[in-house]
Amino acid sequence: MKKDAIDRTEWVRLSLGGSTSTIIHSGVEDLADDLSDALWVMDANTEAISGAPDGVRRVVLPVGEAAKSWPAVDRILRAAVEQGMDRHGRFVGFGGGVVCDVAAFAASIYLRGVSVTLIPTSLLAMVDAAIGGKTGINFAGFKNIVGTFHAADEVRICESTTHSLTDREFRSGLAEAIKAALLGDVELLELFEGHAEAILAREDAILTDVIRRSILVKARVVEADFREGGQRAILNLGHTFAHALESVAGFGEWTHGEAVAWGMARAARLGELTGHTSSQHAARILTLLERYGYRIDPGVADPNALLEAMRHDKKRAGGAIRFVLPCEVGETVVEPVDEVTVLQGFVHPG
Ligand SMILES: NC(=O)c1ccc[n+]([C@@H]2O[C@H](COP(=O)([O-])OP(=O)(O)OC[C@H]3O[C@@H](n4cnc5c(N)ncnc54)[C@H](O)[C@@H]3O)[C@@H](O)[C@H]2O)c1
Repeated sequence: MKKDAIDRTEWVRLSLGGSTSTIIHSGVEDLADDLSDALWVMDANTEAISGAPDGVRRVVLPVGEAAKSWPAVDRILRAAVEQGMDRHGRFVGFGGGVVCDVAAFAASIYLRGVSVTLIPTSLLAMVDAAIGGKTGINFAGFKNIVGTFHAADEVRICESTTHSLTDREFRSGLAEAIKAALLGDVELLELFEGHAEAILAREDAILTDVIRRSILVKARVVEADFREGGQRAILNLGHTFAHALESVAGFGEWTHGEAVAWGMARAARLGELTGHTSSQHAARILTLLERYGYRIDPGVADPNALLEAMRHDKKRAGGAIRFVLPCEVGETVVEPVDEVTVLQGFVHPG
C-alpha cells in the first residue's frame, strides 16, 4: 500500500573528508524505503527486525564481534559481484556497530568505494559506531586493526529499534551517550541527571533527544578532525581504562559500555589526582554513573595487571600512557600521566 508521506527529518549534514554524510531521523515504517536495490548486510538478530523488502539481496552475518572478519568481508564482496553491482551501487548496513563497521568497510573497498547507508539498530551504533566514517575489521587478534575512513552518505536513525535490545546492550550504548554529554553538552548531562527513569525505560521522545544530542557532539568532533589527527582523541574519554579492563577481565565479561563507564569514573578520579578535575565535577560524574547502575568501584581488577594492559594500548606515547581527563563539561585535556599516579587512581576511594 502506498504511504501518504515519508516520515523523515534531517538532523545534521556533516562534511567528512570531502564527502557529505547526512544523519536522518526516520520513522520505523520508512527505514527500509527506497533501498530495495541495495545489498543489505545484517546479522541474525537484526535480520529479524529489519523489514528488508522481500527479495532484497542480503548477507546475514553471524552475531557478534567474530563477524568483523575477512570471511565476512569476502561474503559481502562476493554477493556484490554476483549481484553485478557497479560503482553506482549501494550497501546497507542494518545492525549494531559490528554490522555497521564491516558493511562500511566492504563498501569502502568494493570498486574502490561505493555508497553505503547505515541503519544502526543498537544504541551504541546510533550514537557512536555509525557516525564519523571509521570502518574496520579485527585481524590477527587485534581489534579494528584493518580499516578505512569511508563515511556513510546517509545514516538513518530510528530510536524504536532499540526496544528489542537487551538491558545490558542498551546500557552499554547509554555509556557512550553519557560520554558525549560530558564531552560537550551540558543540557544533555542535565537530561541524564533529571530523567533517568524515562531514559532507562526507553521512552521514545526523550530517547530521541538523547540520541540526537549525542550524535551532534560526536559530529562536531569528527568534522573538525576526520582522520584522527588530534582532536578526535577526546572521544576516547574512559577508553584507555576500558580497553585495559576488557583485556584483563577477558573480553565479553564486561560490555564495552560498562567498561567505558568504569573508565570514565577512573578518568574523573585521575583528573582529581592530577589537578585537572575539581572534586565537585568528579563527584557529579560518579553520582551519575552510579544512578545508571554502572560499576564504578576501583577494585574490580588487579591494578598492576591493568597497568600492564595499558602499556600495550596503542595510544601509548613517549613511554607514558595518555589519558583523556574531564576538566569540566565540554573541557578535557589529553595528557600522559606517570604510572605511580595511575596506580594511585586505582586505590582512591570511589
Ligand atoms: N566505527 C566506529 O567509529 C566505532 C565506534 C564505536 C564502536 N565501534 C564498534 O562497534 C562494535 C560494537 O557495537 P555494538 O555494541 O552495537 O555491538 P553489536 O553490533 O555486536 O551489537 C550488540 C548485540 O545487539 C544485537 N542487536 C543489535 N541491534 C539490535 C536490536 N535492535 N534488537 C535486538 N538485538 C540487536 C546484535 O545482534 C548483537 O548481538 C565494536 O565492534 C566496536 O569496535 C565502532
